[in-house]
Amino acid sequence: MAAALIDGKLIAQKVKDEIQKRVDNLKAKGITPGLGVILVGEDPASQAYVGMKEKTCKKLGIHSEVYRLDGNTSEKEVLDLLEKLNNDSNIHGILVQLPLPKHIDEWKVLDAIDPQKDVDGFHSINVGNLCIGRDAFVPCTPLGVIVMLEHCNVDLTGKHVVVVGRSNIVGKPMAQLALQRHATVTIAHSRTKDLAAITRQADVLIVAVGRPKMITKDMVKEGAVVIDVGINRVESGLVGDVDFDGVKEVASQITPVPGGVGPMTIAMLMHNTVLSAERRKN
Ligand code: GUN
Repeated sequence: MAAALIDGKLIAQKVKDEIQKRVDNLKAKGITPGLGVILVGEDPASQAYVGMKEKTCKKLGIHSEVYRLDGNTSEKEVLDLLEKLNNDSNIHGILVQLPLPKHIDEWKVLDAIDPQKDVDGFHSINVGNLCIGRDAFVPCTPLGVIVMLEHCNVDLTGKHVVVVGRSNIVGKPMAQLALQRHATVTIAHSRTKDLAAITRQADVLIVAVGRPKMITKDMVKEGAVVIDVGINRVESGLVGDVDFDGVKEVASQITPVPGGVGPMTIAMLMHNTVLSAERRKN
């Protein structure tokens, strides 16, 4: 059986069409949603991601301000800039692109963002609120995975969701969101013993480890839904954490790389930014 392809580009476009309507509604009321982005250093992947975020804002009519700071920028300068953005009523969402250079304390910076403008959902208040099921900004990539699954009519209730990867950006919030949707959740990671025995139990397998093609056909149950969050640059181009060609023969639905989860992440950032602007007017 060949799996159905989950087309992230198409789903992200539908999401953005809805966001466009919300932006237009806000503008009719005199509010232009605004996103402030801070990028420190010259990491090529981060530069590319920030460029894509900026372009998407422009397309949707969201005001964006991108602060490209050189790699030697001090922690104090970043904190001062955050204070300015926190107090700027034209800015509804603030994002600090990660990773930051080693001389800057990442947690200190993330916790300096006004939690009401924390559209990445990385502030410890939003992380805590997500864990206890209170209203919170939810990190964009796992939120995008949830929206994708909803679009594909995958109900997580009672399903065994296996998340491979335990990062703060994807794995941990992903597990929380699946739990909120009544899944039975297992988090596996690089130290998990007999990973294949765990992944083979998954009704829904979500992989975010950053290792090219590490999930092979023999590690996936027949009929499982497979979501590949990995984006790895190898000689042949971009590949995911899942061996797509092999796994598509056993999965029922599968995301490609590129064109799977990636486009959803940016769409959800736009969603969170517009949501913040909508909340502000109340
Ligand atoms: N670096 C990798 N993914 C992300 C993300 O979703 N947000 C930010 N701010 N940095 C990242």
